[in-house]
Amino acid sequence: MQHPPRLPCLALIVALGAATGASAASTGEVEQGRALYAQHCAACHGADLEGAPDWQRPGPDGRYPAPPHDETGHTWHHGDVMLLDYTRRGGQAYLDDLGVVFDSGMPAFGDILSDDEIRAILAFIRSTWPEEIQAFQAARTAAETAD
Ligand code: HEC
Repeated sequence: MQHPPRLPCLALIVALGAATGASAASTGEVEQGRALYAQHCAACHGADLEGAPDWQRPGPDGRYPAPPHDETGHTWHHGDVMLLDYTRRGGQAYLDDLGVVFDSGMPAFGDILSDDEIRAILAFIRSTWPEEIQAFQAARTAAETAD
C-alpha cells in the first residue's frame, strides 16, 4: 500500500490544480462516467475500482492483470493527459511510443468511446479518491499541461 508523499505546500498545489480546472467536474459528468465505467472498465478493473485479484503479479501469460483505479492503485500517480491517451490508444501503443518493453493487456478505447466519454470516466474515477490524492493528481495534470 502506497501513501501519498508529504507535500511541502499542499495549498499551492491545490491552487495550481484549480487554476487549470483539472478537478472541476460537474455531477452530471461524474454520473455519466460512473455508468460508462460500469459498462466498459469494471469487467477488468473491478466494479468498485478494486482491480483484478493479485494485480501486482504477472499472470500465466506473463501479463500484468488490471490494477485498481481506487487510491490503492497507481492511476492517481498520472495526470489526466496521460490517462486519456492511455485509455484512447491502449497500453501497448502508449508504451511502445515511450520505448518501454511491456506486454500490455489494456485495450484501446478510441474507437468505442469519445474523448469526452473517457474524460467523464476519469472524472468519476477521480471523484472516488480522498481529497489529498485528488490534489496530488491535479498537480500532476497541471504540470503536464504547463507550457
Ligand atoms: C480487457 C480488460 C481491460 C478493460 C476492459 C480495461 N482495462 Fe485498463 N488495464 C487493463 C490491464 C491488464 C492493465 C495493466 C496493463 C497496463 O498498465 O498496460 C490496464 C491498465 C490501465 C491503465 C494504466 C494503469 C493505471 O492505473 O494508470 C489505465 C489508465 C486504464 N487501464 C484505464 C482503463 C479504463 C478507463 C477502462 C474503461 C474505459 C479500462 N481501463 C478498461 C485491462 C483492461
